[in-house]
Amino acid sequence: MIPAMTTLEKAEAAERALSEELDRVVVKSVIYTSGERDPRVPVPRPPDQGKRYMMGHDPRLARMPDRPTLFDFFKYRFAPANHLMQSARLALKNGAGEKVVMACLVHDIAIAGFIRGDHGYWGAQLVEPYVDEEVSWAIRYHQALRFFADEAVGYHYPEMYVKLFGADYQPDEYIQRDYRYAREHTWYMTSRLICINDLYAFDPTVQVRLEEFTDIVGRNFKQPKEGLGFDASPSAHMWRTIMWPTKYL
Ligand SMILES: [Fe+2]
Ligand SMILES: [Fe+2]
Repeated sequence: MIPAMTTLEKAEAAERALSEELDRVVVKSVIYTSGERDPRVPVPRPPDQGKRYMMGHDPRLARMPDRPTLFDFFKYRFAPANHLMQSARLALKNGAGEKVVMACLVHDIAIAGFIRGDHGYWGAQLVEPYVDEEVSWAIRYHQALRFFADEAVGYHYPEMYVKLFGADYQPDEYIQRDYRYAREHTWYMTSRLICINDLYAFDPTVQVRLEEFTDIVGRNFKQPKEGLGFDASPSAHMWRTIMWPTKYL
C-alpha cells in the first residue's frame, strides 16, 4: 500500500510536473514555502534533467517591458488592483489632495504583488525613491494607524478586523510604538487619510481604470527613465524581484 499523499505533497507533485514542462529549473525562495515546510530543512530540488536554472524571465508570467513603469507593474504583476484604484478614487471623491490620492493608489502594493506581512513598511520602501517623502511616510504608518480608531476624524476600528483577527486581537508592540510616534507627527493626517479612504469592503461592481490616475501619477511619481528595477535606486532590486520572482540567484 502506498500511503495517500498529503495536500502539500500533491501540490508539490503538481508543481514538479509544471516545472518539468519548463526548460529551466525553478527553485522557490524559502520565504515562499516557510510555514508549509520547515525552513530548517533544505528546500528539495526538482530533478534538473540536465536543464539550466531559471535566471530571468519566467515564461509562466506575463513578460514585462524593458523599461517598466509603475502602471506596467499594475498591469502585469499587481492585477487585479481594484482595491487600490477604488481607494484612490474614493480619496479623489472626498476631495483629498494629490499626495493623498497618490498614496492611496499604492498604499497596498506590497499586498498586491510582493509580501503581505508588514505590507505598509515594504510598500513604503518600494516607492520611497520615487515619491515625496510625505507620501512614503504616510504609506509606512498606515500599517500601524489602521489598528487604532480616531473617531474625531471619522475613522473607526474596522469591523472586518474583528472578523479576521478576533475581538481580542492586540497589535504587536512595534505597531503600538509606531502608532504612538505617528500620532504626534506633522504628517499624521496624511497617513490617517489613507485609512479613511481605504475600502475595507471590496465592491466588485465598481470599475476603475488605471488611466484615471495618469496625470496624478505623472506629477507625483518620478518614473525612472531606465525603468523600475534598473535605475540603481535603493529599492530597484525589490522591483526586479517582483518582475522575476523565481530567479535562482
Ligand atoms: Fe494596507
Ligand atoms: Fe488597503
